[in-house]
Amino acid sequence: MYTLKTKIDTNSAEFRQNRKAYLALMEQYRNVLKQSTAGGSEEAISRHHERGKLLARERINLLVDPNTPFLELSPMAAYDLYDNGFPSAGIVTGIGVVHGRETVIIANDATVKGGTYMQYTIKKHLRAQEIAMENGLPCVYMVDSGGAFLPEQDTVFPDRDHFGRFFYNQARMSAMGLAQIAIVMGSCTAGGAYVPAMSDETIIVRNQGTIFLGGPPLVKAATGEEVTAEDLGGSDVHTSVSGVADHMAENDTHAIQICRNIFENLKPAEKQKLDLVSPADPLYDPEELYGIAPIDLRKLVDPREIIMRMVDESRFHEFKARYATTVVTGFAHIMGFPVGIIANYGVLFSESALKVTHFIQLCTSRNIPLVFLQNITGFMVGKEFERGGIAKDGAKMVHAVSNTNVPKFTVIFGGSFGAGNYGMAGRAFGPRLLFMWPNAKISVMGGEQAANVLVTVKADQYREKGMEMPSAEADKMRQTILAKYEREGSAYYSTARLWDDGIIDPADTRKILAMGIATSINKPYPAQQFGVFRM
Ligand code: COA
Repeated sequence: MYTLKTKIDTNSAEFRQNRKAYLALMEQYRNVLKQSTAGGSEEAISRHHERGKLLARERINLLVDPNTPFLELSPMAAYDLYDNGFPSAGIVTGIGVVHGRETVIIANDATVKGGTYMQYTIKKHLRAQEIAMENGLPCVYMVDSGGAFLPEQDTVFPDRDHFGRFFYNQARMSAMGLAQIAIVMGSCTAGGAYVPAMSDETIIVRNQGTIFLGGPPLVKAATGEEVTAEDLGGSDVHTSVSGVADHMAENDTHAIQICRNIFENLKPAEKQKLDLVSPADPLYDPEELYGIAPIDLRKLVDPREIIMRMVDESRFHEFKARYATTVVTGFAHIMGFPVGIIANYGVLFSESALKVTHFIQLCTSRNIPLVFLQNITGFMVGKEFERGGIAKDGAKMVHAVSNTNVPKFTVIFGGSFGAGNYGMAGRAFGPRLLFMWPNAKISVMGGEQAANVLVTVKADQYREKGMEMPSAEADKMRQTILAKYEREGSAYYSTARLWDDGIIDPADTRKILAMGIATSINKPYPAQQFGVFRM
């Protein structure tokens, strides 16, 4: 391995200008993050506290081991949607360390519409369960929810990836030996009642938690029976009569302590072995990334400048450095974990796809996790390249990306467009985690290209009728498409809809990747099987 050396002058006007513009992006990012993680209205929060309850994030902080980080996922889910009425989509999910075990934590935020589930709450809960399954992690559900958000029942109830999938997943994970623990800290009504009922072990807080299939008003309407919530499904009933819950806690803090005690008796994880080294900081300050990250996507950034600010001691053993130079591949360590890095440096050609395929096979055969650093406009187009078989070479890369048995992690540090997104382990290709930087953009192609394609198609239609497309119409069409792509391509648009696991501070990338890799070794990598590589 050799140490990468920067070619960037951090005193140059270009660097300073980029940094200044990036710091403005960071301010916007921090504001949106603050707004999204503040929970519901002040009124709802004080009512919650008056009831002696802790907020979702306060509960999580008590659950995780002291001085360990909690990797919160998609905190800006539902941002700019529903009039911002569902901050974080009303649920907090993430990976934290509980009694030394990486654990998926799913906590309802009862200050947001009573902790009810709308479409993105559902998506976030299911994504967290998927992460638990892929990485072999236990799950803790901190339940405080009114169940389905009833006005939107058609987007939360009937489909495969709707509410019912929670329980299916719990049953499947329990069978996989992944502990399912519920702490009932508030309401668990109707479908929500099955979260504790389907768990391996359940704790309920006295005079606070309730579990029932139908609440008192429904019972009265259905059978005429009058009953209080506590008598119908409170802690006393469920720990002494029904047996639906196993432990009674005095309050939130006590419940969390019981949960931590449960972790003392879990089955130890069978870990994947990796060849670890002592972690070391990069030689270059990760905060220099603010001066380097592409804000203007037309600016080509040498990904080695990103890599050297992310990997231990800035050491990188580059593979095929002289071949297919629009993609950079090589080995490094991130906080002591071995990684194979694949990073874009321009458009993908046939030979770039072959180089990546070869490199993925290397990492696969050596059990080295893969990190994809995306800044990609797509594959090269044109007669010469089609005749050279770029589609079949791209397909080899997509085969390798799809079938490798090692965990993949994707960071979009610039643009993510077209089939480039696919080849570089976009969301559809199952990276264990996928993050975007605040400057990142994602869409099927760039706005200008999309506008040009559509204007060309329209102009051709006019020409077939022997007419010319009026320039005012072409301009209007171009402007409409550009504005649409600008809005829909933003990292905020993406993260609101859970196309990623969150927007992150570039300077935190290495810590977050390290946590992802530490998480991924809780399950041995499966046996390797590639499909047919078209030659
Ligand atoms: N669907 C949509 N909105 C709901 C809801 C539901 N199932 N349950 C609660 N809400 C909304 C309320 O309308 C209120 O909205 P607002 O802030 O805009 O006024 C907000 O959530 C808080 O509800 P509130 O009853 O004031 O809070 P609470 O903390 O006293 O009680 C619950 C919370 C969840 C215990 C209680 O609202 C409840 O029992 N809801 C019905 C649950 C149910 O039967 N669900 C069936 C799901 S299949």
